[in-house]
Amino acid sequence: MIGRDVGRAVSILRDGGVVAVPTETVYGLGADASDRQAVARIFAIKGRPVDHPLIVHVSSRRRARNWAAEWPPVADALARRFWPGPMTLIVSRAGHVLDEVTGGRDTVAIRVPAHRLMRRVLRRFAGGVAAPSANKFGMVSPTSAEHVSRDLGDSVDYVLDGGECSVGLESTIIDCTVVPPQILRPGSVTAEMVRSVVDSLAPASGPSRASGMLESHYAPRCRVVPVDDVEAAQRVMTDKPGASARILDGRTDSESFARTMYTDLRRCDDDGVDVAIVVLPDAHGIGVAIRDRIGKAAAGR
Ligand code: TXA
Ligand code: MG
Repeated sequence: MIGRDVGRAVSILRDGGVVAVPTETVYGLGADASDRQAVARIFAIKGRPVDHPLIVHVSSRRRARNWAAEWPPVADALARRFWPGPMTLIVSRAGHVLDEVTGGRDTVAIRVPAHRLMRRVLRRFAGGVAAPSANKFGMVSPTSAEHVSRDLGDSVDYVLDGGECSVGLESTIIDCTVVPPQILRPGSVTAEMVRSVVDSLAPASGPSRASGMLESHYAPRCRVVPVDDVEAAQRVMTDKPGASARILDGRTDSESFARTMYTDLRRCDDDGVDVAIVVLPDAHGIGVAIRDRIGKAAAGR
């Protein structure tokens, strides 16, 4: 069932159901973060290993603090600057946070998303909504309600249709339990933006390494081949006569490329494309996040 009924989404969450919810990054597969059984259903529907922790979504900074044992000044400064928005903070967890949500860790991931419909859901629900991206484990994240329906079908109780995601890439994850803080997963809140708020930032350590993150992830069925320029893309095309290949050019406008990147990869699969050749943007700004996701989509195939 798919629709735009916020009241319905909230009552399903209250009844322990699972609702696909829109955020500005990607769609989430949401359940009451305080309900063990409801959270367990998320893992079952996604086919996700149970030790992979979930992000708790709340409506405000004030409510976010209820989920944390400690709220360090760095977390507060980042929250004031970038929430509501595409940023997730890792902090020490409050005592009541379920092990099912944190994967047994002593930390918890929290986010206040900016999407208008999701904000209405969170304000009315008042609690925390635990939600991973609403895709099958390891696959491309959904950026429209239609993607969710196609991936998960009737296994979710409701899909709240909030249109196409305006960012299109998963949130920036920042670990605030270490000094200096560290970006675990790059996103549209870029390292440059984070540095404008915090005194120092630990250097990113290669591919995103939030716990439970694998080398290969965010992958369509087709093979993904990252290249550095259009000429290299043309060469890959001519090297693969007979294969159906498509070039996706991320160098022109990185922000709009990010917005449609997952849709474009899904379309490659729909159209029977064998190889998606992705021309990577430079490694600054949101380009870092695009390179990270494309690297993971390309890994292990
Ligand atoms: O934009 C997003 O972040 C979307 C929307 C729905 O909010 N969510 C999302 O969730 O991408 P998911 O589960 O696909 O990715 C969250 C990542 C996982 O790699 C998980 O391991 C990591 O966050 N994570 C969650 N809690 C953590 C914790 N306590 N410590 C370290 N990493 C954590
Ligand atoms: Mg995911």
